[in-house]
This record gives sequence, C-alpha cells and structure tokens, in this order.
Amino acid sequence: MFCLLNPMSYTSSSSTPGAFVRRPRIHVTTPELEAQENQWWEKHSQLIHEIWGLPEALSDAVRGPYLLATLEKLLRELPARPLKILELGCGAGWASRHLATTETKLTGIDFSENQIALARQNAKEHKLNCNYVVGNFLSADQQISFSDCDAVFVHCALHHLSTEELHQVFGLFSKLPKGSKVVLIEPVYLDQGSPLLAWLDKPLRKLSRKLWGSLHVSAPANQILQKQTEDLIEESNSKAWFLSPKEVPFTVEELSDLATGAGLKMTEAPKPVTYFGLETAQTIVMLADKEKTLQQGPGAIAKNVWLDDLLLTFGILPRLTNNYFFCRICLEK
Ligand SMILES: C[S@@+](CC[C@H](N)C(=O)[O-])C[C@H]1O[C@@H](n2cnc3c(N)ncnc32)[C@H](O)[C@@H]1O
Repeated sequence: MFCLLNPMSYTSSSSTPGAFVRRPRIHVTTPELEAQENQWWEKHSQLIHEIWGLPEALSDAVRGPYLLATLEKLLRELPARPLKILELGCGAGWASRHLATTETKLTGIDFSENQIALARQNAKEHKLNCNYVVGNFLSADQQISFSDCDAVFVHCALHHLSTEELHQVFGLFSKLPKGSKVVLIEPVYLDQGSPLLAWLDKPLRKLSRKLWGSLHVSAPANQILQKQTEDLIEESNSKAWFLSPKEVPFTVEELSDLATGAGLKMTEAPKPVTYFGLETAQTIVMLADKEKTLQQGPGAIAKNVWLDDLLLTFGILPRLTNNYFFCRICLEK
C-alpha cells in the first residue's frame, strides 16, 4: 500500500522503484510541451481528482487545519476588512471553504471553465462570499487590479510552471501594495534530511498506522485505483517527469530568488504543512470500503495531523527526508 503524492511512501516501502524523479525546472514552455501537459491532465483528471482532490471530509481533515492557520495569520497580520484575497489557480474552489469568511472577500481565477463552474456552484452551496473569474493567471492583471489586493494565495499551482512563467507571475506580485502578503502552499525540496534521523522512519510509520485505529493498513485496497496510480507513476518515471510533464517541486533557493526579484521578503522559512496527514488521507482513499473510509478517515487523519504538528514543533519533520514537502511559503511586499 502506498500513497501518491507524499514522498515518504517511496523512500522506504514502495513497490514502485525510483518514483518521483528529481529534475530541473523547464525554462521555457514550448507549444509541444504545453500540448503534452494538457493531454496529461485530460487523460488523468478523474484519477487526480480522486487521489489529490480527495472526498471533501478527508480533504478538510488534512487541509482544513493548515488553511485555517493561514487564514488566522493573514487576519492577524493585515488590518483591512473585508480582507481582499486573490487566489490563483483556484480550481474547483475547495480552498475557499476555509478562506472565505465574513471577514474576507475572495476572488479566484482559473483558466479551466469547468473548474470555475464547480467553484461557483461550491460557493453557492456553502453561501461563500467569493467571486470566480475564468482567466489566465499569467496575465491576471488584465482582469484584476493587483494594487487593490491585500493578499494573494496559491495552493499547489505554481510548481507546474516553467521558469519564464514563474517570472511572469512574480512580476504581477510586484504590483501589489506595500505591506500586502503572498502565501504559497507548494511542494519544496528543503534538503534538510538527516541520516541520523533515518532510524526514526520505521517507528514513526508504525505510530502513524497505529493512529488509524480500526482503519488498519491490512484493510483491502481498491485494486483498480491502486493499479491506475501505479501505472501513472510508472509512466512519469519512464519519461523522467516528476509527475505531469511540466511539474517540478521548488527549491528554497529558487523561491528566494523569485521573491527577491519581485521585491518581496520571505517572512518565514518554508515550513511543511502536512506529511503523515496527507499520506494517511491518500492511502485510506485507496481502501475498498468507502463507507468505513469516510466515517473513520477524518479521525485517523486528524491524529496524523497531530503527529505532524508534534514532529514540526521539535524540528524533526523537515529532517526526515531529502525528498520534497508540501510547505507554506510566506512573502511580504
Ligand atoms: C494542480 S491544480 C491546483 C488546484 C487547486 N489549487 C488545488 O490545490 O487543488 C492547478 C490549477 O491551476 C490552474 N491553472 C494552471 N495554470 C493556469 C494559468 N496559467 N492560469 C489560470 N489557471 C491555471 C489549473 O486549471 C488547475 O485548476
């Protein structure tokens, strides 16, 4: 049993050899590469939706705590009310459920008309104070005034861009007003792995599984979903992609250079937001018993979120592996 997007599964117990190729970022996107990327998403969108999007209850359990902490940080640090937040690459708008409150006004932009339609439906169902726009965020300043935003939020969309495109987006950030914030949640190679802590791998994984309670690892898996995921990863490996043709996690140096170029200050070092929490969510979503998964999954995830927090507090989490972590990056204009 393994999960898709959390690196730890592969570093020690994967049956899939060599998963998650570490490669340099693509500098310039060619039309061929763009077409290849679009085809990849077309082909795998349903699978990615299942294993990355996750059922709402599981996604909320793993992402809710770090999104709530992010919202609280923004509200604490920025006085404007409503706080105007722009979300780039908002997809189906699931993050809005956590960021849209009576104190915020959220605008989301995404170039997928289908995703924006889902986001609008989601906002209507949850009565959220959100406005969604179909558009390319590389030229979002044509539709949205950056000088009028208090904060920009991006969840796992920028690492899909080429270096040239990243410079375009960070160029837009330079139009933000002084004092505004940019918060990114993106995969980052922290490169702080310690061989001394490698011995913790096995006991920590055991503890993580213990925290699952009766949703034990030996529960039968959904063989079809598991096989589709294995095939997806094997295809990426065979082509020396990370996962989709264009995506590459960031390095700290790369983020720091981009921020400096846009006149932004990194106010805290990139910090992992989830590890065992996401691994648990992505592994239990592959279990065959959906009813049990949805009933007991959120509790199992919450306990693993607690484990992540504990490991982070003691500075252990970022040192467990040299592979990437989903991190929060806080920037200020
Ligand atoms: C990997 S998904 C992330 C979605 C969501 N934020 C999440 O974390 O689940 C990237 C999203 O960015 C959108 N996207 C990618 N490039 C874009 C661009 N240049 N302009 C607008 N949207 C873009 C895609 O349509 C997709 O919804």
